[in-house]
Amino acid sequence: MRKIALRLAVVLVGVCMAGSIAAAQTSSHAVDAEGHQWWQHAVFYEIYPRSFADSNNDGIGDLKGITSKLDYLKDLGVDAIWITPCFPSPQVDFGYDVSDYENIDPMYGTMADFDVLAAEAKKRDIRIILDFVVNHTSDQHKWFLDSKSSRTSAHRDWYIWRDGKGPGEPPNNWVALFGGSAWKFDPATNQYYYHYFYAEQPDLNWRNPAVKDAMFDVTRWWYKRGVAGFRLDAVETLFEDPGLHDNPILRPGKNAYGDPIEKNEYNTKLPELHDVLRGLRKVADESNGVLIGETWTADVAELNQYYGEGNNELQLPMDFLFAMINKLSPVEFRKQIAAVDAAAGWPTFVISNHDIVRSYDRYGDGKHNDQIAKLMGALYLTLRGTPIMYYGEEIGMKTTPPTRKEDVKDPIGRMGWPEEKGRDGERTPMQWDGSVNAGFSKGTPWLPVPPTYTTHNVADESKDPNSVLEFYKKVLKLRHTNRALLDGNYAALNESDRNVLSYVRLYKDQGVVVALNMSNAAQKVKLDLKHKGFVSIKNLLATGQSEAKGDEVSLEPYGVFIGELTK
Ligand code: NOJ
Ligand code: CA
Repeated sequence: MRKIALRLAVVLVGVCMAGSIAAAQTSSHAVDAEGHQWWQHAVFYEIYPRSFADSNNDGIGDLKGITSKLDYLKDLGVDAIWITPCFPSPQVDFGYDVSDYENIDPMYGTMADFDVLAAEAKKRDIRIILDFVVNHTSDQHKWFLDSKSSRTSAHRDWYIWRDGKGPGEPPNNWVALFGGSAWKFDPATNQYYYHYFYAEQPDLNWRNPAVKDAMFDVTRWWYKRGVAGFRLDAVETLFEDPGLHDNPILRPGKNAYGDPIEKNEYNTKLPELHDVLRGLRKVADESNGVLIGETWTADVAELNQYYGEGNNELQLPMDFLFAMINKLSPVEFRKQIAAVDAAAGWPTFVISNHDIVRSYDRYGDGKHNDQIAKLMGALYLTLRGTPIMYYGEEIGMKTTPPTRKEDVKDPIGRMGWPEEKGRDGERTPMQWDGSVNAGFSKGTPWLPVPPTYTTHNVADESKDPNSVLEFYKKVLKLRHTNRALLDGNYAALNESDRNVLSYVRLYKDQGVVVALNMSNAAQKVKLDLKHKGFVSIKNLLATGQSEAKGDEVSLEPYGVFIGELTK
């Protein structure tokens, strides 16, 4: 996460209904002729529910709002939605502090609303992925309330409690990702508890088998209700060194919160976490569930560990290496694509999410952000692997961080201001139309709607053939219908080109070529197709004046060309 810090730098009506949804989903989980599971061809779409669509005009998006937009998502070409946490929560970390894993927060609706959403999604063949916050609960969860009630309570050992080193001194030097010591003193029982994130998010003790059983049961509960899988939050933080060794200091100085800059050697990426992932996968397999991981890794070797031996851990560990490339450069992307294409499992591409600046704003120069939005979409939607979209990218919605500290909603933005402005900028309300509040809500939206909604919104972009939205729809349609894009192998072309990233996707005798101009000047490239046995290219989809003549492609600044190869 910047990584969050680097500012790269989770009823009864339904019981019968849920049974039938679950049964229906199981039957459609079959493997296709190429041996692919549904999630290998699917396009996933992340919804930040607070910000998607507000049905009751309280300024906060909700489940009924999501249900009302399912036709939009279907039309766009979305096969599965991942909803970030919508469970009961004090909302300190906007839902990533869960106080009840088996319910819906009233601000988002009811279990009955969830069942309607699941049933309506099922009708449209859209699967639902929930966000499972595995590392920590809210400090208001009943398990934690009991845990802190006394040293001998039934749930005491469900969290990580330790004595301080001395009076006023925490057990060791670990600092929380969200600022301050990772230990909070509880005067009632005279011990500290551990929290990797906010103090209101105490870490669960996964070394306790009771925790494991209870958490595994949560996933069973939701699978029975019809969900197709989970996105697992912050998996790298599941275990800590029981000896509580101090973390080494990475470099001198202080971070945005005024804390020492540590290397999380003793409190992240412990090998034990893989036992938990194997366990969760076994439970997932009972229901044909798919597991997506929030896996921030330094390289593909590390990413490979999350697939597990014989792929017995996560089917879709997210590849954030793309999100860590800080310059729009064919050289960098080529290197990462090749590495991920050779990974131990199916690639899972993420370019934007609710914790990072949107891709086209990271690479944008202020003038060409829409072109870059199309280019980034064309890139990860035409690679071999599963893309996870982030709501709003399909309309080029602009990351709009607050300009005044007093307007910041994300607590890390208040604590780290001005160096860390928090994550409000990438969580602003979805822009549906040009009416008040962009059609998101008739109330006061929980975050302001960026002024750019007048030019970037679903209604207007649907009418403009050159919009980011129409481009996304075309790429998604191509991706769903073209065999080479679905199943073809990846091969890089013109590997020394420093402006244009080009590659082919090859399936039997079919081929699709993709050429992406990552520079702000027009480019002409002669594609090296002969050794693949192709002679010329037919246009499938291009931006602006971009076109192919024979084996030569002309691209406008940040232009995209996608073509069918002919022999
Ligand atoms: C990762 C989530 O994506 C982020 O939004 C959250 O703050 C942390 N995990 C803690 O749950
Ligand atoms: Ca609402």
